[in-house]
Amino acid sequence: MIDLSSDTVTRPSKAMLAAMMVAPVGDDQRQEDPTVNALQEKVSDLLGKEAALFLPSATMANEIALKVHTHPGDEAIVERSSHFVTSEAGGPAFLSGVMLHMLEGKRGIFTAQQVEAGIRRDDPHCPPTRVVCVEQTSNRGGGSVWPLDALRGVAETARKHGLRTHLDGSRLMNAVIASGIDAREHVRGYDSITFCLTKGLGCPIGALLAGHREVIRAARRYKHLFGGAMRQAGIIAAAGIYALDHNVTRLKDDHANAKRLAELIASASNLNIDVAAVETNLVYFDVAQTGLLGQEFVNQLLARGVRVTSSAGPTLIRAVTHFDVSRCEVERAGRIIAELAQSASQSVARTAPAR
Ligand SMILES: Cc1ncc(COP(=O)(O)O)c(C=O)c1O
Repeated sequence: MIDLSSDTVTRPSKAMLAAMMVAPVGDDQRQEDPTVNALQEKVSDLLGKEAALFLPSATMANEIALKVHTHPGDEAIVERSSHFVTSEAGGPAFLSGVMLHMLEGKRGIFTAQQVEAGIRRDDPHCPPTRVVCVEQTSNRGGGSVWPLDALRGVAETARKHGLRTHLDGSRLMNAVIASGIDAREHVRGYDSITFCLTKGLGCPIGALLAGHREVIRAARRYKHLFGGAMRQAGIIAAAGIYALDHNVTRLKDDHANAKRLAELIASASNLNIDVAAVETNLVYFDVAQTGLLGQEFVNQLLARGVRVTSSAGPTLIRAVTHFDVSRCEVERAGRIIAELAQSASQSVARTAPAR
């Protein structure tokens, strides 16, 4: 099976496992795990932030960031298709008691003007706006890369109004490789950063929250409170160090593979895709013209040996390239997708009632 369902399906390579086997470890709850400490320093240095905290998942990093930046009853500005909204089980409401003010972005990207307009007036009827969150790259925006001036504009506007800023950089290194711009520049001016190890970087577990020392000090308490404080976590942190040393520059292969997949998909006249919009490793396309619903298309594709997902819309499909899928498999998958689309249209035409 060619699994294009997510960049999280990768398995640790032999070399990564070897690095994990020999990692020096200690009790991370006491901050005594040397490998965890080394990873935290490596990521804070990469992002140009004062400190970083190793966590089990990017969801936990996002939710802890929100908890640190807000009080119950506050409002957070987010994009309506962001992970906070679609995929964190209502965490902002449940864990932080915050309202989400959802902006409508273009491919997940919104403007400083939208932030300005979204900030609540100082009025007892309104929840106080406290934080602005962006997602780099934007998952449901199609793996789109926020341009630097858009990121900066949002951060500056937020600061001008005394708001905190959070950047969900679960796929930050995809943005770095696609743009050729240093990670520090992407996150400059943001108070906290989620940095995930399990997406394109090929690790089995882990994410970090980076930011100012005071933000991370507060985050460490919530890590414990949320049950994320681990013991000899160096065994998994070692995978992160290995990934940062070996698996970053190769993301350009995933991006080239995604572009090739998009071209093959575009060869089917009844599949709708914007090839130019494929900037990183996520490929979204619409199957409405095949006459199938997204989930039907997913099921029929699975029967042909290709796995994709359909959760972003009734006829929208997502395919993701990653470490564990080769150029050859991408070529094969692209052809199978195009063939299924063509044959689906023909069988729909055959079964349509005569007029
Ligand atoms: C943009 C974004 N943020 C956060 C997450 C959460 O990552 P995890 O499921 O590993 O906690 C994901 C997961 O796909 C994501 O795409």
